[in-house]
Amino acid sequence: MQQRGQWSGRLGFILAAAGSAIGLGNLWKFPYVTHQNEGGAFVLIYIGAVLLVGLPIMTAEILVGRRTRRDPVGAFKQLGEGRLGGKAWAGLGFLGVSAGFIILSYYSVVAGWTVHYIVLSLQGKLTALASDPGALQTHFVDGFLADGKQQVGYHVFFMAATVSAVYFGVKEGIERVAKILMPLLFAILIFLVIYSATTPGFAPAMKFLFRPNFSELEPSAILEAVGQAFFSLSLGMGAMLTYGSYMRRESSVPRSAVEICFLDSMMGILACVIMFSIIFTFDLEVSQSATILFTTLPTVLVQLPAGGLVLGLFFVLVGFAALTSTVSLLEVVSSYAIDELRWSRQRATLTMGVAIGIFGVLSALSLGANSALSQLNLFGKGSTEGVFSSLDYLAANWLLPVGGLMIALFVGWILNPQEVKTELEDGHKPMQASFGFLHFALRFAAPIAVGAILFSVIFLGAEYQ
Ligand code: PHE
Repeated sequence: MQQRGQWSGRLGFILAAAGSAIGLGNLWKFPYVTHQNEGGAFVLIYIGAVLLVGLPIMTAEILVGRRTRRDPVGAFKQLGEGRLGGKAWAGLGFLGVSAGFIILSYYSVVAGWTVHYIVLSLQGKLTALASDPGALQTHFVDGFLADGKQQVGYHVFFMAATVSAVYFGVKEGIERVAKILMPLLFAILIFLVIYSATTPGFAPAMKFLFRPNFSELEPSAILEAVGQAFFSLSLGMGAMLTYGSYMRRESSVPRSAVEICFLDSMMGILACVIMFSIIFTFDLEVSQSATILFTTLPTVLVQLPAGGLVLGLFFVLVGFAALTSTVSLLEVVSSYAIDELRWSRQRATLTMGVAIGIFGVLSALSLGANSALSQLNLFGKGSTEGVFSSLDYLAANWLLPVGGLMIALFVGWILNPQEVKTELEDGHKPMQASFGFLHFALRFAAPIAVGAILFSVIFLGAEYQ
């Protein structure tokens, strides 16, 4: 096997893993699913899911990766050997690699939208568009989403950028980008939150986000909150496992997991506070909530001093946040080909990148350019219409939670507790209570919570609306 790369240290790992977690899931998806699910209760369940399910599963994934130093398929194959289920656990790795393939194919389409905004900004057109909310909405929805050539073009561009970053390996490509841009993105969001706090929409936004109303909460909304937690934290498909496989033994797994979960949740919540303050301040009619990041936020950024510049910079940062996530998605798929099929890194990255890029064209064309693809309804229910939404629904609400559930069961029940404990204590001062909580969560809390939600949606016929 080739020499595996390693992060330069714990900070390198944290930055890269946080880079994977923080992305369009926080800035684009979280605000809009929160909007669709009417805030309050949804946000609370989301936070509960991060603590009870996300955190333990993140620990489990990193641990399996660091222990085996392999891709998800190889890791579960190796650890499963000689235990209940044996090599069949490799199937769990396959599920993850397939989820990575699917997610990257449509994620890159949305990531491409940020490039479009950067281009508009460089052409000097963004300021004028953003100054007129109606014009921006029309441009985006009717002009841009429905334009197949542009959708495919930007998607392909973004895939090419992702492939180049992965091509150059772990340290050079990913760490360097994450080290500079993540803190900058964080700073800009903090600034915008402070700004939002001065707007009249801030109070209603806080009420909307943090005052739960459980009266009409459907199991499908709970599933969506859990799915969103998996998606946003990059869990359930081996991304954290793969990044953990490049982690040094001296680095603490639980501490890293806590930090990543905290940073990621902060980003999502900050994004919501900003966007809902704007929505309430201007009393905006959100007709297509899936585009809030692109149609709502710019109209306010542009009003700030040097607004045009801030707007351009903002989309550069969002684009890079997306890139550090797409890199981790491609890394999962190619590390499988590198470790298991013994391909060279170059061959693996290029082949998989091209395959995912081609598959993604279906999503790119399903946003209005091609009516058959826009109407294709794989799961039969309302908001999953079209290839793009169907794949997102399949991956985020089913593949990731099922994958996460299995990972929890694997580490909680199949691995020997003493082994898990030793592994957790490596690079970390032993802490009996935290091990107790993690192990309990992996054995009972996480599998029961996720299992019950999946069960209720499947068998109680809860509608996905
Ligand atoms: N967590 C990323 C985001 O929020 C998306 C992602 C999902 C990345 C799964 C890797 C694996 O944008």
